[in-house]
Amino acid sequence: MALLKTKNFISANDVTDINALVAKALGYKSDPFKDKTMGAGKRIGCLFLNPSMRTRLSTQIAAQNLGMEPIVFNVGAEGWQLEFEEEAIMSGSTSEHVKDAAPIMGKYFDILAIRTFPSLANKEDDYSELYVNQFIRYSGIPVLSLETATLHPLQSLTDVITIKETFKENRKPKVVLTWAPHVKPLPQCVANSFSQWMNAWGEVDFVITHPEDYELDPGFSGNATITHHQDEALKDADYVYVKNWSTYTDYAKIYNNDPSWMLTLDKLSATNNAKVMHCLPVRRNVELSDEVLDSPHSIVTQEAGNRIWAAQAVLSEMLGQLT
Ligand code: CP
Repeated sequence: MALLKTKNFISANDVTDINALVAKALGYKSDPFKDKTMGAGKRIGCLFLNPSMRTRLSTQIAAQNLGMEPIVFNVGAEGWQLEFEEEAIMSGSTSEHVKDAAPIMGKYFDILAIRTFPSLANKEDDYSELYVNQFIRYSGIPVLSLETATLHPLQSLTDVITIKETFKENRKPKVVLTWAPHVKPLPQCVANSFSQWMNAWGEVDFVITHPEDYELDPGFSGNATITHHQDEALKDADYVYVKNWSTYTDYAKIYNNDPSWMLTLDKLSATNNAKVMHCLPVRRNVELSDEVLDSPHSIVTQEAGNRIWAAQAVLSEMLGQLT
């Protein structure tokens, strides 16, 4: 059975069976080269409109494990500045319209992978996923999200894989997403995406804790229990996922930077010896304390390592759908 509903991978909604996709990823973790000729003769273009370390490297490794040729283009740093608005009069800073650039990508590549952060200036454009949708519309080839304005699906699939492989008890784990302080306004996409995948997976008791006015889009937080009291949320948690995000309702503001929201070993004493997760990069001693990151609670390196297997499982499914 195909594990993707469409030829694109943009959100949890594109997956038919999350557990099967996780099993496929863990299969690649135990035998990375078992499909090493599957992508022979196929090329993936990895377009980065924004910085990356883990996503860039893990996607290239995953593609190579499947025999594909990955080509990375740092559009944001090295390419022409792209215009995304329809009927734009391009007399400003943008040099090339996505309507002209994307079809060329469709000639060069078999799959197009894209990282496009939100503007954090225009909520409507960001939450309509204008940038990635324009690439889907005009490239004519399957599109893989490497993080878009509102979601980071390969990170979230990785997070499900990491919980699945580390939780050995015969019950639902309690998973807490906690807001953390930061020095600048960050997108909501990792928190949105983690919430979307936890809700879609359905095999955890999911709690979100954040200061007042940091509510996520309810379309993503869904059925989660939401509390402004971090200490209540952490009680008996099996996993604590730490992430900052800026405000959603009054878009992209910092209303609160209270350092008391940073996770410490003392706070973790109320948990069920919780494992601590973060997508990385992390600002030490702002978002997460040294004492937690350097303790046995932290599984952030294992989590980042699993990015390869998530990407490989998804790419394998996308290759399987190429005609
Ligand atoms: N977590 C993550 O996406 O890391 P990078 O931004 O380094 O790719």
